Amino acid sequence: FLQVLHVDHVQSNTVTLESLRDPNGPMYYNGVYHLFYQHNPFGPLFGNIHWAHSVSHDLINWIPLEPALAPTEPYDINGAFSGSTIILPGNKPVMLYTGVDNKFHQVQNMAVPKDLSDPYLREWVKYSGNPIINVPAGITRDDFRDPTTTWIADDGKWRMIIGSNRDNTGIAFLYQTEDFVNWTRYDSPLHKVEGTGVWECPDFYPVWVDSTDGVDTSVINPSERVKHVLKLGLLKNDNDYYMIGSYNPEREHYVPENDFTLSTLRYDYGKYYASKSFFDPVKKRRILMAWVNESDSEADAIAKGWSGLHSFPRSLWLDQNKKQLVQWPIVEIEMLHENEIGLQDKKLEGGSLHEVVGITASQADVKISFKLTDLEEPEELDESWTDPQLICSKMDASKKGKFGPFGLLALASKDLTEQTAIFFRVFQTKGRYIVLMCSDQSSSFGPVLICCFTQTTPKCTKENPYSHTKPVLFIWKNMASCTNRLTCPKPTFRRSSARNGLDKTTYGAFVDIDPKQDEISLRTLVDHSIVESFGGGGKTCITSRVYPTVAIGEDAHLFAFNNGTESVVVSELNAWSVKKARINIVEETISCTD
Ligand code: FRU
Repeated sequence: FLQVLHVDHVQSNTVTLESLRDPNGPMYYNGVYHLFYQHNPFGPLFGNIHWAHSVSHDLINWIPLEPALAPTEPYDINGAFSGSTIILPGNKPVMLYTGVDNKFHQVQNMAVPKDLSDPYLREWVKYSGNPIINVPAGITRDDFRDPTTTWIADDGKWRMIIGSNRDNTGIAFLYQTEDFVNWTRYDSPLHKVEGTGVWECPDFYPVWVDSTDGVDTSVINPSERVKHVLKLGLLKNDNDYYMIGSYNPEREHYVPENDFTLSTLRYDYGKYYASKSFFDPVKKRRILMAWVNESDSEADAIAKGWSGLHSFPRSLWLDQNKKQLVQWPIVEIEMLHENEIGLQDKKLEGGSLHEVVGITASQADVKISFKLTDLEEPEELDESWTDPQLICSKMDASKKGKFGPFGLLALASKDLTEQTAIFFRVFQTKGRYIVLMCSDQSSSFGPVLICCFTQTTPKCTKENPYSHTKPVLFIWKNMASCTNRLTCPKPTFRRSSARNGLDKTTYGAFVDIDPKQDEISLRTLVDHSIVESFGGGGKTCITSRVYPTVAIGEDAHLFAFNNGTESVVVSELNAWSVKKARINIVEETISCTD
C-alpha cells in the first residue's frame, strides 16, 4: 500500500520531503476509490498540514493527485486537520474537516468538489461560510477536532461526532444538521470517559451481528441486527481503542457493552493510529485504514526525507462471539502475490527452526497454522500477570517455555542477529487456556554460546545450532556429557535492527481462542520496514516498524521457529512474495490491461 511508495524512495535514493499521517475521508464515488490523508508536502515532520489526495480503482495501485485542501484561509491557515467525507443524496460528496484558524482555534469546515463530472474530483472548493462549527464554550481551543462520517437518522437529520476533552474527560460531542451548514450540538455528548484526555479521530459505525459484510454508516438498527462500534484515538498514548455497544437514535445515547479502561479492545496492539473506516459498496464490506508512524527519530526522518506509512487496508466485522472485531487484509492483496509456496504437517521440535525459502522475505504474505497435538498441562500463568505486553517483554522469544514461544522470525538475517519475532505462548489459569501473542522487536532467539566440539581444533562458529541441516560441529543437546567445551565470544544479538536509537518496544495481547479446539493461526505481511500480524484469524493484530541493516532485500530471511520444550506441528503454511504496488505513477501509465 502506501508504504511501498516510501520504500521505493529509500531504494532509489530519491530525495522527497514529505510526511504522511492520518487517512482522511476514504470513499468510493462513481467507480473510483478516494483516499485523502494528512500530509506535509514540504518536509518530513509535522507541519503545513494539507489533505493529500490519491485515487485507485482497486485499493492497491494508487494515482497521486494534487492536494485536495491546502491551509490557505483564515479558518484553516494553521492546518487542514483530519475529517471525513459523505456522499449525500443526489450523489454529491461533501468533505468535513477541522481547520486550525489564525488564532489557533480548531473549527469545523466544509468543502465540496468543484466539478462533479471530473472522474477524480481533483479540485475541492471550500464553503464560503466556513467555519460551520466553532469551539464550544468551556472547551480549550485546540481540543476540538476530527469530524466523523455523518449518518442519517430516522428523522431525516444528519448526525456527526467530534473528538474533544474537558478536564481530562475524553468526549465525543454529538451534532445534528439538515443542511450541513447549520449545526446544533446536543446537550449530552454521544459518549465520554473520565481520565482519558483528548479523543482524536473518532469513528462511529454499525456492524452486523450475524454477517461478515459491512454496513453502511447510516444504517441504524434494522430488526436489532446491528451493534455500533465507537472508536477513539487517545492523544496521550497514540492508541486506537474501540467499544462495541448499542446506539439508541431516539435518545441519542450510546451504551457500550464494555467499560473503557486502558485494557479496552484495540484495533491493533502495535503501532497503528488515527485509523478511519468506510463502507465499500462494491464488495459490501467495511474497510479500515490507519497511519503507522516511524519508530526511528525525527533526525532520521530528516535524513531520509520522509516519514509515515499507511497500513495495508483491512476488512473488519464483528466476531462470532459478538464481543470483538475481526480484521483481515483485503482480498485484493492477492493481485500482488507471486511465487506461492506451501508446506503441510511439519513437526517443529522444541528448539528448532525451519527456514521458509522460495519467496522474497522482505516483501511477503505468510499464513501459518500451528497445531498443539499434546496440549497437556501448559505452564500456569500467574494471576497477577494481567498485562500481556509486559509478559511479552519479560518473556521474549529467547525465553524457553513449554508450549511456546513458537511463530515466525521475519526480516531475519541469515545468522539471526537481526530478527523480528512474532510468536505465541500457551498458558493455563484456573483451568482455562490462555493464548498470548507477541511481536518482539528486541527478541534474541539466536546461536547458542557454548559449543561442544568433537573435532581436535575447536573453533567458534556462527552456524545456526538449531538447524537440523548443520549439526555437525555440535552435540548441543547433550552438553552434560560433553568433555570438550568451549565458550565462544557472545554473539551480539542485534534483534530487529543493529541500529541503536530506535523504538524497539515489544508488543503483546491475548488471543481469544481455545487452543484445544482451534489451531493457532498467524498471518504476517512483511514490507521492508513494516510487519503487520494477524493472530487467531484476525482477532488480535499487531503492527510494528523495524529497520534491519542486514536483513534487507535478498538478504532478508523468514523462519518458522519453536523455542518451547514441547514440539508443535505446522499443520499448514502458505507464503507468497508480494510484488510492489504501483502507487507513485501517473495515471497515463496505468492501462486497463495492466
Ligand atoms: C491525529 C491528529 C488529529 C489531527 C491531525 C493533525 O494524528 O492529531 O487529531 O486532526 O492528527 O494532523
